[in-house]
Amino acid sequence: MTNKLPVPDPIAQQHSDQLLASIKQKIAAAGGKITFAEYMQHCLYLPGLGYYSAGSYKLGEQGDFTTAPEISPLFSQTLAHHIRDVFSQITPSNILEFGAGSGKMAVEILKELDQQSCLPEHYYIIEASADLFQRQKILVAEEIAHLRDRVIWLNELPKNFIGVILANEVCDAMPVHSLHFQNGEVKERYIGLENDQLQWCEDKLSQEELLSHANDIQTLIGDIEVITEVNLASQAWLASLSESLQLGAIFIIDYGYPKASYYHPQRSDGTLMCYYQHQGHSNPLILQGLQDITAHIDFTALAQIALDNGLDVDGFQSQADFLLAGGITELANRVQENDELSLFKQATEIKRLTLPSEMGETFKVLTLSRSLNHPLSKCQLADRRYNL
Ligand SMILES: C[S@@+](CC[C@H](N)C(=O)[O-])C[C@H]1O[C@@H](n2cnc3c(N)ncnc32)[C@H](O)[C@@H]1O
Repeated sequence: MTNKLPVPDPIAQQHSDQLLASIKQKIAAAGGKITFAEYMQHCLYLPGLGYYSAGSYKLGEQGDFTTAPEISPLFSQTLAHHIRDVFSQITPSNILEFGAGSGKMAVEILKELDQQSCLPEHYYIIEASADLFQRQKILVAEEIAHLRDRVIWLNELPKNFIGVILANEVCDAMPVHSLHFQNGEVKERYIGLENDQLQWCEDKLSQEELLSHANDIQTLIGDIEVITEVNLASQAWLASLSESLQLGAIFIIDYGYPKASYYHPQRSDGTLMCYYQHQGHSNPLILQGLQDITAHIDFTALAQIALDNGLDVDGFQSQADFLLAGGITELANRVQENDELSLFKQATEIKRLTLPSEMGETFKVLTLSRSLNHPLSKCQLADRRYNL
């Protein structure tokens, strides 16, 4: 599948070779192998060289993949209406967005909340990529200059946060461990070197924390041979969010499944995917620093972390149901009826965001909260918590 991928230009190839050389050094320094999670971390986030850390275009039509906020402002506007529901129950109201990408979602949410006279005191952003941080700053200054003082970039989680925390397609970009189940046994998959080429190799689990996950997965798959992923980073991330959140809600939007579907014996090759210039494939050992590497989210694991840390799990919906409950069609109706081009454009965007064959079903929204007085009723439309 990977041999039809576009060939990088010489400058991009040079960049990739530099990252690959650095990864090889790390493998040698680690005694011959690193976990796949470490490899993925280097490929995506090694300062100056990783996919997200360096300057490639990444998001949108000219990049490698498109996310919901890039497809349509209606996504962020609808999210703003869900946020407004939380704001009606809390003061002060703040937003904290993780991994804000190009910054489009932040800009559109603030525009919509401004229009609704419901602005947050602050819109905080925590961004792992220095390159995207720069782009977000520029976009905010260009698009919402009058609100720019409200947007604050943070390097760490605030203490006793009151407000709404957002993460759209962030967890899927966190490094995962790769496990191989065979004949009732589990091995971890590492990246090593053979004749100076990257190679998959297997050994015992690198961390004790993986053991309970491996036991759960083994129970679900039985004796079937399966390669799959465990995302410890997203679980640690959510535990830290829950420590920070004093009052408010968290919306986690991403592609993924409840545990039983994630670790279903039929999904025996796992969920690891790479994206290069809008072509998806499954080989992470090429195009280092030039392609995105992702894995689907186990939403049951996140919901369990939430419960273990005293958060309420308010809803688990498909993206389509979340957007419909938030009023995406009513928001679309604000376009003038005689503006046929805009009407057509919006209809196409809504289809992409909500149709089951597009993003509507693959993407899910997990809504979590702490100490709200009333349930977030719109997050319970076609609720699927029973699946978690
Ligand atoms: C797939 S992009 C999604 C961007 C944006 N949310 C969107 O929907 O267009 C993933 C984003 O998450 C960021 N990211 C990944 N891990 C992160 C972390 N632990 N903290 C903050 N940002 C993170 C990446 O740098 C990037 O901005």
